[in-house]
Amino acid sequence: MTQDFYTKPTVVNNVPIGCPVTALGESFNPFKDPYLSNPYEFLAEARREEPVFFSPEINHFVVTRYEHVRDMLVNTEDYSSRMAQSPIQPWPKEAAELFAAEGFQLVPTLSNNDPPNHLQVRAFLKDAFTPKRVRWIEPHVRRLVNDAIDKFIDKGKVDLTKELLYETPARVLFTFLGIPDNSIEQVKLWSQGRALLTWGKLSDEEIVAQIPTFIEYLRFCENLIARLEKEPGDDYTSELILRMRDENPEGFDKPRLLITVFGLLMAGHETTTNQSGNGIRTLLEQRENWEAICADPSLIPGASEEIVRYDSSVIAWRRVAKRDIELEGVTIPKDAQILVSLAAANRDSRKFPDGEKFDIRRKNAIQNLSFGMGNHYCLGAPLARLELVIFLEELTRRIPSMRLVEGQTFTYSPNTSHRGPQSLWVEWDV
Ligand code: HEM
Repeated sequence: MTQDFYTKPTVVNNVPIGCPVTALGESFNPFKDPYLSNPYEFLAEARREEPVFFSPEINHFVVTRYEHVRDMLVNTEDYSSRMAQSPIQPWPKEAAELFAAEGFQLVPTLSNNDPPNHLQVRAFLKDAFTPKRVRWIEPHVRRLVNDAIDKFIDKGKVDLTKELLYETPARVLFTFLGIPDNSIEQVKLWSQGRALLTWGKLSDEEIVAQIPTFIEYLRFCENLIARLEKEPGDDYTSELILRMRDENPEGFDKPRLLITVFGLLMAGHETTTNQSGNGIRTLLEQRENWEAICADPSLIPGASEEIVRYDSSVIAWRRVAKRDIELEGVTIPKDAQILVSLAAANRDSRKFPDGEKFDIRRKNAIQNLSFGMGNHYCLGAPLARLELVIFLEELTRRIPSMRLVEGQTFTYSPNTSHRGPQSLWVEWDV
């Protein structure tokens, strides 16, 4: 089975779904301000007034309350993940043909897969971030963070995204996957292009222009696997190649290996770059929290969990209804696409008392949905948590006087799902 990676999202029986569209649904535009710079005001209104609404802008139903979002994440009987990686904005025919000519088999593997194959793939990959492997990588992460800080600590003012948060998670992941460091800049640009291609709203011309880059990115992963097949290292990709030879796992094959590496490379650094940017911005804006963790670093793991809840880097994910579903007086027809708002669910006061408040001592922050829930729970969550904690531990230890540069404007990539400040100017006493 090949995934319909570049086909149009489903229109049910050629009838526009979601009619009549409400005023709130009409006003939802995730690609523009005011939502782009602050989605939370809109999401609070939606959660309160219309917890399920249809958005013609993206041809998805949007769901915002914790209980519904959680159910959609865990309930694989009624909801499918098959479109999770398909473009929000359908590709024009020319782009689809350009891509098809390359002959890649975009098989579903993890986030866009359903049972039973998803469970087979997941069983084969489940060892990716065991506590042992995370302990193995921890000193490396700490060293990379400190090396980066060494380079700018005397400057007194930097764009922290550029100098620290942008490259470090990529370096960590590259070690993990067996990729040489000199490809970082290239891979970062490819990943950002890919994010816009899948979750953004590009014009048809822009989509066609992005296709060769997307193909290059996949070829890069293909070449990596070919190289490690010949000269395996002690990285995770080599381990998967060797285990495939030894175990001949059911439901996991070479096309799946390619998409797994591609998927990990995509999921494993932009998310963490964005998460740390969101977190440091929030801590410095509500400075008493920054000062609290400087004074007592044992608060950092709890603060990190609250950061992930309060300002996640993955604000929305996707599902498809497997049958007609009635929810809050709205009918979501079979095959309709759903944007599952993790950001809205995470601030739902029914689950998190005073949910709009940032509280680093919050008891149940860990029940946030930022990493998903259930079968698809983020495979990289242990690594993401480790990186965020180490960023905070080292920055508070070495630069406690850090503060935000006043008057800066925070900008965000226009897409439905991935969110983090593109630059984060900070200054401190030297
Ligand atoms: C703060 C950082 C991160 C956030 C907020 C995040 C969030 C998510 C979310 C929302 C899902 C989808 C869950 C679902 O469909 O129900 C997911 C899945 C996934 N994530 Fe992450 N992620 C992060 C970091 C990472 C990292 C560092 C890696 C790998 C190194 C990673 C690898 C994956 C993979 C492989 C899946 C697919 C799992 C499956 O479908 O079985 N993620 N993540």
